[in-house]
Amino acid sequence: MSQGRDGFTTTFGALMATLGSAVGLGNIWKFPSLTGTNGGAGFLLVYLAATILVGLPVMISEIMLGRTARADAITTFDKLAPRNQWWWKAIGWMGFAAALLIMAFYSEVAGWVYAYIFKSLTGEIATTDPKAAEVVFGQLVSNPWSSLIWQWVVLGLTGFIIAFGVSKGIEAVTRRLMPLLFILLLILCVRSLTLSGAGDGLAFLFNPDFAKITPAVMLTALGLAFFKLSLGMGTMLTYGSYFREDQNIAKTATRVMLADLSVSLLAGIAIFPAVFAFGFEPAAGPSLVFMTIPAVFTSMPGGTVFMALFFLLTAIASVGAILSLLEVVVAILSERFGLPRKAAAISTIAMIAVFGVPAALSQGVMADYKIFGLNPFDLFDFLSSNILLPVGGILICLFVGWVYGLAAPEKRLAEAGTSVQRVVIRSVFFLVRFVAPVAIAIVLLNGLGAF
Ligand code: PFF
Repeated sequence: MSQGRDGFTTTFGALMATLGSAVGLGNIWKFPSLTGTNGGAGFLLVYLAATILVGLPVMISEIMLGRTARADAITTFDKLAPRNQWWWKAIGWMGFAAALLIMAFYSEVAGWVYAYIFKSLTGEIATTDPKAAEVVFGQLVSNPWSSLIWQWVVLGLTGFIIAFGVSKGIEAVTRRLMPLLFILLLILCVRSLTLSGAGDGLAFLFNPDFAKITPAVMLTALGLAFFKLSLGMGTMLTYGSYFREDQNIAKTATRVMLADLSVSLLAGIAIFPAVFAFGFEPAAGPSLVFMTIPAVFTSMPGGTVFMALFFLLTAIASVGAILSLLEVVVAILSERFGLPRKAAAISTIAMIAVFGVPAALSQGVMADYKIFGLNPFDLFDFLSSNILLPVGGILICLFVGWVYGLAAPEKRLAEAGTSVQRVVIRSVFFLVRFVAPVAIAIVLLNGLGAF
């Protein structure tokens, strides 16, 4: 490790922080809501393919780049790209922009989760009636002050943690909390599956209707694969720069992918059977989780306490993801531009707070301010997940496959150790060189209606 640079101190800590970045509101909130609005099982199938064939190789590539360069997402390309190819730094700058855009709406959703911890305890959201659930959610998100204040609470808390640095801040928080969320999701699944009418939800989730897989659905699934594993914007690259030399990258990435998929599937199994059993609308969008989860808890003994605990753990899961989003920007500001870490953290939070205002007001007073037919919240989401991350993904694949990887493939194969690991590395290079960039480009252009 280069001198004086902070980093993950243990192998387990690095795994948990990486997992903490991947697992978050994407699993509990975005995955179910997109699966619901995009027709269910067909969407899930495309998402799975995108995760395995594109997501995993891109994640391995990003972590590898970061660990080799030991630098922030922009400086990495200064160090690793040939001297005359300065344009690779665009990957880092796009990551910087994507982090701010994602944080603008992500911090808002995290704010709703914080609010729901308290609403669970007061009993306000304890209902299985879709209409009543919609009213409570609508009141929270359409009120400008409650939206903004909860968002600022989220930003204040996570900004405070990030200021402490990598080993003390990020690692300490994330490693302790993940397992608990997993257990609660399991309990929820059992309750949801035993509701009468649960079968329709399972069919929705697992029985694909291929007619529903349109180019736009495919682009959304690809965007989700990137968003879920925090890829295409230098997040995994930045975390890779904190990995120790002896951390096995391919193994860590595969574990993170599998664990992340499991959490999403559990969330899906907890939610969709209940959606059908209680008569909610699967295509409700961002409000889906906030209406369905309370309904499942309300229908079980001890529900209030479990419900509050669930939202608390979801809030905590979101912290791991937010810290990694902030770290992309903080690392650039502090390492590349020389700001002290605390000043970098404060500047990052301030920039997000500015972008956050329109996102927070999108469900209320700014609902009719539309660009390309999208309110600011949806626009930030679309621009980041469906454009910036896939484009960043293509560039990372091209860089690793055709510029950096070609420079010393034998050395990297030798570094990979056992024969199994060599096969893995060879397959990753094949996917990164030929399959992933072409697949992303086709899905992206097709999804945007270019063909
Ligand atoms: N992967 C996170 C989630 O699914 O909640 C969100 C996220 C974190 C996206 C970090 C992008 C990122 F860089």
